[in-house]
Amino acid sequence: MGKTIRGQVYVLGDNIDTDQIIPAQYLNLVPTIPDEYRKLGTYALCGLPDTFPPFVPSEASVGRYPIIVGGRNFGCGSSREHAPVALGAAGVQAVVAENYARIFFRNAVATGELYPLESEQRLCDLFATGDEAEIDIEASRIVRLATGESYALKPPGAVGPVIEAGGIFAYARSVGMIAPRKKAAAKPEPEADQDKPAPEKQPAAPAAAAAAPRKKKRARVIAVANQKGGVGKTTTVVNLAACLALLKKRVLVIDLDPQSNATSGLGLEHEEGASVYRALIDNEPLADRVRQTAVKNIDIVPSELDLAGAEVDVARMDGYLQRFRSILHPFLDNSAYDFVFVDCPPSLGILTMNALTAADSMLIPIQCEYYALEGLSVVTRLIRQLHDSGANPDIGLEGILLTMYDSRTRLAGEVVQEVRRHFEDQVYRTVIPRNVRVSEAPSFGKPVVLHDRRSAGAKAYRELAKEFLKRDAKHCRDHS
Ligand SMILES: Nc1ncnc2c1ncn2[C@@H]1O[C@H](COP(=O)(O)OP(=O)(O)O)[C@@H](O)[C@H]1O
Ligand SMILES: [Mg+2]
Repeated sequence: MGKTIRGQVYVLGDNIDTDQIIPAQYLNLVPTIPDEYRKLGTYALCGLPDTFPPFVPSEASVGRYPIIVGGRNFGCGSSREHAPVALGAAGVQAVVAENYARIFFRNAVATGELYPLESEQRLCDLFATGDEAEIDIEASRIVRLATGESYALKPPGAVGPVIEAGGIFAYARSVGMIAPRKKAAAKPEPEADQDKPAPEKQPAAPAAAAAAPRKKKRARVIAVANQKGGVGKTTTVVNLAACLALLKKRVLVIDLDPQSNATSGLGLEHEEGASVYRALIDNEPLADRVRQTAVKNIDIVPSELDLAGAEVDVARMDGYLQRFRSILHPFLDNSAYDFVFVDCPPSLGILTMNALTAADSMLIPIQCEYYALEGLSVVTRLIRQLHDSGANPDIGLEGILLTMYDSRTRLAGEVVQEVRRHFEDQVYRTVIPRNVRVSEAPSFGKPVVLHDRRSAGAKAYRELAKEFLKRDAKHCRDHS
């Protein structure tokens, strides 16, 4: 089709982080509300130092720079979908950088806001802000119009059609993978699937190593999720699992994050082809993916980098939001775990949505920091969407966990109060303190309770496990 993008270039350097792209104070703007989407655009790149010319000095200048040229590691920092959304809302159609922080790249594709293109050479030293340029997507080239100099880009490959369609959901709709939208809406954001295909038939899965079949209720599946990275999801999965295992509960951890931190945190070496990926894509039995960990009573379905590709591959499949559920539930019917914890990646992409569609409940760790509440509102809205769309009408909120609490700062105390005021008893009474033993335990491939059982972090996670079980007992009473 020969898509071209033409206009002025805005030039940036290396390591442009998401706080510079859209500072955290604007994350309460909801991209699906057209007015707020527009506002996000006006704040794009307002976190840059003053040495850069203002990117959007006024609303009238939205669209002035359809092309950004950056250096290395574009979009690093905390994961936020608002980053590509803000740029898209500011009229950016493509970023050309040497390489990307992976999560920014994925968010750009999932939202379809812009092309994250990679240059073959470093272009941010060759272009100047205000240069007129043209990108030819098909030919994978960028040309400086004044001089005719042309530079090669890496072809966007499979992501091209997804962005062209306007994001993963729009793409899936456009090729008939999912039903058309019932209502027209503004720019897409990750959303629950609206059609509800029947779960696919799966050959009965043999029981996993640690899970001899036994007649009992299916294990409860808890997705540990938060679209933000670095809030303590993985730490909570590993340590809560370990503390429950010490209390003789049989736990399965499923590492759905391509970064594999839960896998390494539980002491597993990298093993090619071992992740849930093949089960998701090729229907290989989930039971074959289960590995024992060094911790008694904990099994794991490990992760590997390949899983990053699952976002796009799964999106091509029928009933793609139900994929994980359709392999997980039959497997659990034949195994004897008490709890399954799914460690989600830091985005609301396809993998997280699959986890939430399969989960009985969602546990949301949040860091005791200033913008905790805004992030929470995104996640709680998501639970409502899962309900309302029918994608997972039964999902509940397992609990909100305050992590990395630093008693020396007043702010942390204020955040705890504020979150409790809003979410009351949905917040665990146990608060996890910031504790160096917790952060060093993963380098030993161990949960903190085995690394230093007397540390404040270990104590807190043991408390959490008890509180978790108390709530679980109440949950069982309420539902029996
Ligand atoms: N209670 C804690 N005290 C100190 N460091 C922590 C604590 N919880 C998590 N960390 C560290 O913070 C970083 C992010 O935590 P992690 O669990 O990986 O977050 P997520 O999975 O949400 O990205 C990790 O380096 C981890 O070791
Ligand atoms: Mg993690």
